[in-house]
Amino acid sequence: MKRDEIMKNNNFDNVNSIVKMYLQEILQEGDICIDATMGNGYDTVYLAEKVGVNGFVYAFDVQKEAIESTKKKIEKLDFEKRVSLILDGHENIDKYVDKNIKCAVFNLGYLPRCEHKIITKPETTLKAIKESLNLLEENGIICISIYTGHDGGMEERNAIFDFAMNLEQKKYNVFESKFINQKNNPPSIIVIEKKKQIKNK
Ligand SMILES: C[S@@+](CC[C@H](N)C(=O)[O-])C[C@H]1O[C@@H](n2cnc3c(N)ncnc32)[C@H](O)[C@@H]1O
Repeated sequence: MKRDEIMKNNNFDNVNSIVKMYLQEILQEGDICIDATMGNGYDTVYLAEKVGVNGFVYAFDVQKEAIESTKKKIEKLDFEKRVSLILDGHENIDKYVDKNIKCAVFNLGYLPRCEHKIITKPETTLKAIKESLNLLEENGIICISIYTGHDGGMEERNAIFDFAMNLEQKKYNVFESKFINQKNNPPSIIVIEKKKQIKNK
C-alpha cells in the first residue's frame, strides 16, 4: 500500500497510520518480520499482506484471546502458511526466530477492551527490542509505538528512551515521531534503523 492509499482511508491521527508509512517504504515481497505484540492481529495481517506468499511473519502475544482473534483474520485471508502465531512473550523471540528480519513492530500497552492488567513491561520489552536488533538486517527497522496514559506506561517509555538514545550513532538511526498538539498523553513512535555498514577494503 502506497502513502496515497493509506491517506485515503486514514489521516495521520493515530500511530498506526504513521508506522505503516515507514513500513511501506522498506517492506518487500519475501521479507521476514516480527509482530512483537499481536493483539487483535491488525499489524500481523498488514505485515503478512506486504511480505506475500514467499515472506513470513512471526507474531507474539501472551494472551490466548489475541491468538484466537488473529487466527480468525489469518484464516479468512488464507495467510496460514506465511504466519506463525506464537502464544509466548516477545522476550523469548530468540527461541523461535533464527533468521534475519526486515522489521519488528511493537505496539505497546494493553489490548483495548481486554484485561488492562496485561500490559507490556519495561524489562521484557527491552529484552525483546535487543533480540530484534540482533536479528535485524541492514536497513531494516524496528517501530515501537509507546503509550504513557496507563499505569506503568511512563516507566516503560523512559526505559526505552534511555536505551534507544544511547544506541551507537555509527550503527543506528534512531528517531521519534510524536503528536505535539494532542491532549491526554498522546502516544509516540520510536523508529530504529540499522545502518548499512560500509566495509573498509
Ligand atoms: C496495544 S496491544 C497490541 C495491538 C495489536 N498490534 C493489534 O494490531 O491489535 C498490546 C499487546 O501486547 C501484548 N503483550 C503484553 N505483554 C507481552 C509480552 N511480554 N509479549 C508479547 N505480547 C505482550 C498484550 O497482550 C496486548 O495484546
